Amino acid sequence: MRIVVLVSGGGTNLQAIIDGIKNNTIRNTRIVEVVSNNAGAYALTRAKDNGIEGKCISPKDYDSRDEFNKALVEEIDKVNPDLIVLAGFLVNIPAEMVAKYERKIINIHPSLIPSFCGKGYYGLKVHEAALNRGVKVTGATVHFVDEGTDTGPIILQKAVEVKDGDTPEVLQRRVMEEAEWVILPKAIDMLANG
Ligand code: GAR
Repeated sequence: MRIVVLVSGGGTNLQAIIDGIKNNTIRNTRIVEVVSNNAGAYALTRAKDNGIEGKCISPKDYDSRDEFNKALVEEIDKVNPDLIVLAGFLVNIPAEMVAKYERKIINIHPSLIPSFCGKGYYGLKVHEAALNRGVKVTGATVHFVDEGTDTGPIILQKAVEVKDGDTPEVLQRRVMEEAEWVILPKAIDMLANG
């Protein structure tokens, strides 16, 4: 299976995919390109260090959102991947792309959907909201992307304990280590191998 990974930031989930392919926990999969909306994303360095083609498509380089969306879809069409993986991609996927790649786009979200998801819930904000609500268990979800925000069919979830004294940063790290870096590679392996 040929996959494209879309990123915005640090790229630890991208790293988990790269490592999974290397150690064969993700079988029959190749990352053909990494696309970032942010030129400074460390994820692009991770791609380069691993000999993977990296590309930046930033809204800042286009006059309108429509033109940015068009460029993004064109790039994906050019690569024609079997699967598009949103690994910390904090940009809304154009409706045209969702329609074109139905059941071929997956996303990792750092909570147990339907908690703490939807518009405005991304990155650290998700963990801040979980701590403010006082939940004792949180986690991560891999799901197919549909036209809504975090509303598509769920593929895998994993729960993670919230501990006394957690800060958003500490909780984010635990959710990544115990859940995200486990279920995202696992979901890709499942999809690549029937
Ligand atoms: C991850 O925690 C991911 O689940 C989250 O952004 C972080 C990216 O980290 N994604 C969302 O919040 C999507 N709504 P990374 O760049 O180190 O993989």
